Amino acid sequence: MPTLTVTLPRRHAGQQTIVAEARRYNILACGRRFGKTTLGIDRCVTPDVLRYPVGWFSPTYKMLLEVWREAVRTFAPITARRSSQERRIEFITGGLLEFWSLDNPDVARGRKYRRVVIDEAAMVPNLMDAWQYAIRPTLADYNGDAWFLSTPKGRNGFWQMWQWGHDGDHADWQAWQMPSNVNPRLAQSEIDAMRDTMPESVYRQEIEAAFIDNGGSVFRNIAACLTAPLDASPDVHKGHHLILGADWARESDFTCFSVGCVTCHQEVARDRFNQVDYHVQTQRLQSLAERWHVADCTFDTFGDQAIDIDGGAAGTYEHLFVDNGRSRRSRPWPRTGRGQGRPGPRRSRP
Ligand SMILES: Nc1ncnc2c1ncn2[C@@H]1O[C@H](COP(=O)(O)OP(=O)(O)OP(=O)(O)O)[C@@H](O)[C@H]1O
Ligand SMILES: [Mg+2]
Ligand SMILES: [Zn+2]
Repeated sequence: MPTLTVTLPRRHAGQQTIVAEARRYNILACGRRFGKTTLGIDRCVTPDVLRYPVGWFSPTYKMLLEVWREAVRTFAPITARRSSQERRIEFITGGLLEFWSLDNPDVARGRKYRRVVIDEAAMVPNLMDAWQYAIRPTLADYNGDAWFLSTPKGRNGFWQMWQWGHDGDHADWQAWQMPSNVNPRLAQSEIDAMRDTMPESVYRQEIEAAFIDNGGSVFRNIAACLTAPLDASPDVHKGHHLILGADWARESDFTCFSVGCVTCHQEVARDRFNQVDYHVQTQRLQSLAERWHVADCTFDTFGDQAIDIDGGAAGTYEHLFVDNGRSRRSRPWPRTGRGQGRPGPRRSRP
C-alpha cells in the first residue's frame, strides 16, 4: 500500500512544550497568531486518535467555516469521504473529524469522540454550560481528551478553566499562558506596531494573553458602570442610545474615547492611546463610532490655541459623522477649565 502524507507545519517551541506537557484536559491561553488553530489541526490526526472520531467546536459558524476550509485542504491526502453539509471528513484510517458551531445549544448530541478541540473557547458565551452539558458527555465512551484553545477574554469561564489547570484539585487539567511572540513566524515589527496602536489593556489581552480584570477592587459598582467590559458587543446594544465622548491628547498625554450606552447606563467601549498622529486618531474615532452606531459625539475643543487637524477642530469631526451618511450629531464641548458644569471626563492639561 502506498504511503500517504499529511503535511503539517513543524511545531514551534511553544507548541512543542504544550504537546509534551499535555494532560487529559488542556487549556491554552495564548496571544493572537500564536498558532493555536494550527496546533488544534495538528491534534486532530495524532496516532492515538487517527482511528477514532474527533470533534471540533468553534464559537460561531463563521469561525467554523474558516477552519473547515483549512482542514479540507490539509487532510485531502487521507480523506476517504467528505460531507460539506454535515461538516464531516472521514479518513481512510477509519477516523473521522466533525465540526460543530457552538451557537447551536444542542450541538453534538448523541456523538462520541476520542478527542475534542474547542477553538477560541473564551468567545463561547456560556463555555461552562457548553462544556458540561454538550461537550463533556461526548468524551465518555472513549475516555477522550479535550483541547481548549483561546486568547483570553477577561475573567470568564475560560479563565476559570485555566485556573483549574493550576490548582491541585484538578489533576487532569493542564494550562499554559503564552504570548504571541512565541510564534517565530510572527515578525517582531508587527508586534511593535500593535503595541503602538492598540489600547494598553487590549494589547495585554490580545498579545500577552493576560486575563484582564474588568472590575475595580474598591469601587465595585462604579467600576461596573464606568469600565468598558472587554466582551461588550454592539449587537447587545442594538437600538439603544449610544454616545461617544472624546478627550484629545495634545502633546504627551493620552487621547481617550469612551462609548456609553444611555439606555443601559453603562460604558461599553473605550480606546486610550498616546499615539499623537491625528490621522490615526480620527480614523480610530471613526471606526469606534461606526462599530457602535454612535448617535452623539461629544468632544472637548482645543481651547484657545486650536490644534489644526485638517483645517480646524470642530469642523473636522462634524464631517466625519456627516460623511457617513447617518444622522449623527457632534458638538464641541466647552473646556472643563472654564467650569461650565457639563458632566464628563476631566482633562488635565498644562
Ligand atoms: N508551527 C508553525 N510553523 C509555521 N507556521 C506556523 C506554525 N504555527 C502557526 N503558524 C502560522 O502562524 C500563523 C498563525 O497561526 P494560527 O492561525 O494557527 O494562529 P492562532 O493563534 O489560531 O491565530 P488567531 O488568534 O488569529 O486565531 C499562520 O500563518 C500559521 O500558518
Ligand atoms: Mg485561530
Ligand atoms: Zn445598551
